[in-house]
Amino acid sequence: MDKEIKTIGVLTSGGDAPGMNAAIRAVVREALHNKVKVKGIKRGYRGLLNEEIFDMKSQDVAGIIQLGGTILGTARCSEFRTEEGQAKGAEICRKHGIDGIVVIGGDGSYRGAQALARHGINTIGVPGTIDLDIACTDYTIGFDTAINTAMDAIDKVKDTSSSHERCSIIEVMGRHAGYIALWCGISTGAEDILIPEKYDYDEQKIVDHIINNRRIGKKHHMIVNAEGIGHSTSMAKRIEAATGVETRATILGYMQRGGSPTCTDRYYASIMGAYAADILVQGKSNRVVAFKNGAFVDYDIEEALAMTKEISEYEYQIAWNLR
Ligand code: ADP
Ligand code: F6P
Repeated sequence: MDKEIKTIGVLTSGGDAPGMNAAIRAVVREALHNKVKVKGIKRGYRGLLNEEIFDMKSQDVAGIIQLGGTILGTARCSEFRTEEGQAKGAEICRKHGIDGIVVIGGDGSYRGAQALARHGINTIGVPGTIDLDIACTDYTIGFDTAINTAMDAIDKVKDTSSSHERCSIIEVMGRHAGYIALWCGISTGAEDILIPEKYDYDEQKIVDHIINNRRIGKKHHMIVNAEGIGHSTSMAKRIEAATGVETRATILGYMQRGGSPTCTDRYYASIMGAYAADILVQGKSNRVVAFKNGAFVDYDIEEALAMTKEISEYEYQIAWNLR
C-alpha cells in the first residue's frame, strides 16, 4: 500500500525565477487545505543537507505572490550529486518526518528529486526556470516575466539606437536555449536574432545585412543575441570595424531573473504548485508537473528527462521574414 502522506516539504533549487514564490504559496496552502503539514527547506538541496528546515503555516506565505526571487532561497549543491549526499538527504527527510517533497527548479533539480525518490522519499518536480528549456512542458515559471522585462529593455535601447543611428547588440539570457532571444527578437522587431540552436557563426551575413539596411534608410539595427552565443562586446567591435556603423553592446544579465512576476507567471505557478501538492498528497512520486497541449499534466521524471524539444522551424523562419 502507498505510504500515508502526513507532512510534505518544499524547496526551490537551481537558478531562481519570478513566480517561484507564487508556487511556494500554492504548495503550502493546497497541502494545508488537504490537512497535510508543510515544512519549508531553505537554500535548495544544500539547505536540506544542512537541515535548514522549518514549519510553514498559511501566514508564512502571506503577501509573497507578487514578489520576485524565492523566499526559501536557492542554491547549487555539488554534494547532492553524490550517492552519499542523496542518501543523507533522504535520511534527513525521515528524521524530520517529511514523507514527500515538492522541488521547484529546472532539469538539474529534477535529477536530484529522482535521486530522493530512489531513496524512498516521494518527490514531485515543478518547472521553474526563465529559460523555457524543459522539454516536457510548454511553459516554465518565470519565462513570461523574463521576456517582458527583456522586451521593455530592448524597446528602450532601440529608442536611443534610432536617435544615434547606431547598431545595438542586446544580449539576453539563455545559456543553452534561445527561447528568450527568439520571443524578444520577434516582439521588438529585431533585425537579427542569434540563438545557439540555429546560429551559423557567419558574421559576414550580419555585416551585409547592416550595410544593406543603411542603403534603404534604416536608422537602427537591433541584434538580439542569446547568452549561449555571447561575446556581444567583441562582436560589437568587429561589426563596427566592418560596417563603419557605430555599434554598442548591452548585456541585460540578471535583471531578467528578478522583478515582480507577471499575471501569467503567477497564474501558472499557482496552478502548478497546487497540482504538485495534490498529487504528492495522493501518494504519487517521481513525477513532474507540466503544461502540455493546453492542459496541466504530470510525467514520470525519467520520461520527462528523456524528452527533447526544438525551436519551431516555422516560428524561426517567421522571425527572418518579418525583419
Ligand atoms: P536547474 O535545476 O535550474 O537545472 P542545476 O542544473 O544547477 O539547476 O541543478 C540544481 C541542483 O540540483 C544542483 O546544484 C544539484 O544539487 C542538483 N542536481 C543537479 N543534477 C543532479 C544530478 N544528476 N543528481 C542529483 N542532483 C542533481
Ligand atoms: O536561470 C537560467 C539562467 O538564467 C540561464 O539563462 C543562465 O545560463 C544561468 O541561469 C546563469 O545562472 P547562474 O549565473 O546563477 O549560474
